[in-house]
Amino acid sequence: MIEFHPATRTFYLALHTSYYAFYVDDDGRVLHLGWGVSPNPQSKIQNPKLAESYLSLSSFDFQLLPQEILTFGDVTSTRESLKVSFGQLGQPLAEGEAAHLPVRDVRLRYTGHEVSETAVPGLAPTHGLPTAVTTPRQTLLVHLQAPLYPTFRATLHYRLTPEHDVLERWVTLENSGENPVAIETCAFASLHLPHGTTQLTSLAGAWAREFTTERTILPHGSHITESRTLQTGHSANPVWLLNRPHQAWEESGTVYFAALAYSGSWQTAIEHLPHGAIRLHAGYNPFDFALTLAAGEQHTTPALVCGVSDNGWGGASRRLHAFTRERILPAPQPRPVLYNSWEATYFNVTVQNQITLARKAAEFGVELFCVDDGWFGGRRHDRAGLGDWVVSPEAFPDGLRPLVDEIHSLGMKFGLWVEPEMVNADSDLYRAHPDWVLHFPGRPRTEARNQLILDFGRPEVVEHIFGLLDALVREYDIAFFKWDMNRNASEPGSVAGRGIWRAHVAGVYGVMDRLRRNHPQLDIQSCSGGGGRIDLGILGRVDQVWTSDNTDAFDRIRIQEGFSLGYPARAMEAWVTHEQNHITQRVAPLSLRFDVAMRGVLGIGSSLNELSAAELEQYASYIAFYKQFRHVVQNGHLYRLERLEEGGASAVQYVLPNGREAVFSMALRDYQVGHFRPRPILRGLNGEGVYTAVNRHGAEVLRATGYELMTLGIPREPQEHVGYSRTLYLRQE
Ligand code: GLA
Repeated sequence: MIEFHPATRTFYLALHTSYYAFYVDDDGRVLHLGWGVSPNPQSKIQNPKLAESYLSLSSFDFQLLPQEILTFGDVTSTRESLKVSFGQLGQPLAEGEAAHLPVRDVRLRYTGHEVSETAVPGLAPTHGLPTAVTTPRQTLLVHLQAPLYPTFRATLHYRLTPEHDVLERWVTLENSGENPVAIETCAFASLHLPHGTTQLTSLAGAWAREFTTERTILPHGSHITESRTLQTGHSANPVWLLNRPHQAWEESGTVYFAALAYSGSWQTAIEHLPHGAIRLHAGYNPFDFALTLAAGEQHTTPALVCGVSDNGWGGASRRLHAFTRERILPAPQPRPVLYNSWEATYFNVTVQNQITLARKAAEFGVELFCVDDGWFGGRRHDRAGLGDWVVSPEAFPDGLRPLVDEIHSLGMKFGLWVEPEMVNADSDLYRAHPDWVLHFPGRPRTEARNQLILDFGRPEVVEHIFGLLDALVREYDIAFFKWDMNRNASEPGSVAGRGIWRAHVAGVYGVMDRLRRNHPQLDIQSCSGGGGRIDLGILGRVDQVWTSDNTDAFDRIRIQEGFSLGYPARAMEAWVTHEQNHITQRVAPLSLRFDVAMRGVLGIGSSLNELSAAELEQYASYIAFYKQFRHVVQNGHLYRLERLEEGGASAVQYVLPNGREAVFSMALRDYQVGHFRPRPILRGLNGEGVYTAVNRHGAEVLRATGYELMTLGIPREPQEHVGYSRTLYLRQE
């Protein structure tokens, strides 16, 4: 609900358990008032004067006003949300003043507001597929203008999803003048958090070590995380949780959350100002950034998604999960069990070995068969073929049709790996168009994994790639693309100039959206050497993501726990692979590999030819078990009952909103003899209900009331040891 109190020009945004308030001061500045948990649903703020003690003024802190948009001009000594330079003054120049141009001073003042039910942020999906919930949402638009340069305007957007306490913030910039305006920095939004909100929980990593949870207390100064490449990046994921130290935990306390819906070069600065104020600025990375608004042009940024939880980090995650499931993921449907042949055959793909794998996979219950790298062009190794998205006659002498038909007749869907943004120098595409890659003329073109990046700033490149993929989907009735992106950027020379950082993201989103519009049966998985392109922007056009190339179950417990901070289980592809992991060389029991992979969207990546008949039977039994409860994992609320940092064990629970079905999953990564772990206490069940818990064999291992399970918890088993795990499916009788 959006309320405006005209007498004090106060805006009050009411969400389910939280509020957000700001007002317009006498000079037309839009000033933040507060954001937090609502004391009660009826309460509101109408009197901004109460907050004015917040604004201390001395000759050193006169710029500290908490403006909803902080512009360079109103502020210079703290970080800004927006920096603009004007080549002209906006009024006649006095003699000698030309030397002061361009003017790097923009002040934005309120001119009016409106409420829209159709506003969307920049780079919103255009595929036309519905999300799970499509009821209209209200967006407050606050219009601002530069009084001394009236042809420059900005509109602040606040879209409310009250049921999840989520606000989406973005900004539209407009130049209705005759001269170009250069945007030098541009956050999608700046957030003002209460003083002392200095405990930050965030996600860092690297290839094969994605989603490592870090928790820190922010000292004074700025804490910066960013991506300086064309995708979201492995080293930091754009999700943040913030709270006052010692005042929030997993299931209690006030926790603020923010996440970017953008998959390119982003930056977030969390600023801890000398007086204790905390600000979070997130949006385009100012690194190598340029955005010029020509006469009559406007630009709308993507969104910063944010909110506040009154029940700890877990409540923040559940809000983000529900928001993503209901409002971001396209056309949600149960995610199929997938088989991917990468770790079975690597580049040695042949029609025969894929058919052999497909037959075995179908027998134990796989629903989607994906052929990974190696099926196209001259791709017999990673030094050739990228860019030539045509079926390799060497691997498939009669084309893909025999394999596709076989997979369909086995009752499975067919999927393919692609890496559309890339090209090998040894490819027909590069030989024909050496100018189609990012490069600076006359300068070296650095290859990584032997590949170069196509210049998506060129419309003809985007069209060419779209045309090839579109034809493939049409010809082979492809149900799934694993869309990969395997290197960071270098030498970002493009016909789009510095705009390439944004143009690349827009190009990728555009190709995905058009493919999905043309082929509603097509699902897409985002992969970038594992989890390098995971964010709320890409999730608007893909169904799932490849969390990490690291499929070691012990490492996965940690990676998946970190992933769960921001993203829902139904988007998290997780594979069971070989007993001895190919990356870490560690050996993990089959039970652990399945129990951990069943926490998300189950996939199989093992070489089936190396498995005995007995092992294949076990695979079949686990897959059948997963299919019984996957709707709970994929649609339920997640509770992290025990986190790794608490003692080496991870216990999670998924529970349907009506409390009638739940899945309990625990895995022990480290174990100290002599240390008794607490019994995991379940949540979200119906107290009076009687539940039975079954294991994979259908054996009833526990019968108890919801009240007992939520007080006494799940009994531990005597033989728990490193590598021990179990999954129980609980149903109310
Ligand atoms: C990347 C992906 C892997 C696999 C290979 C294929 O590394 O993350 O899963 O698809 O590429 O080359």
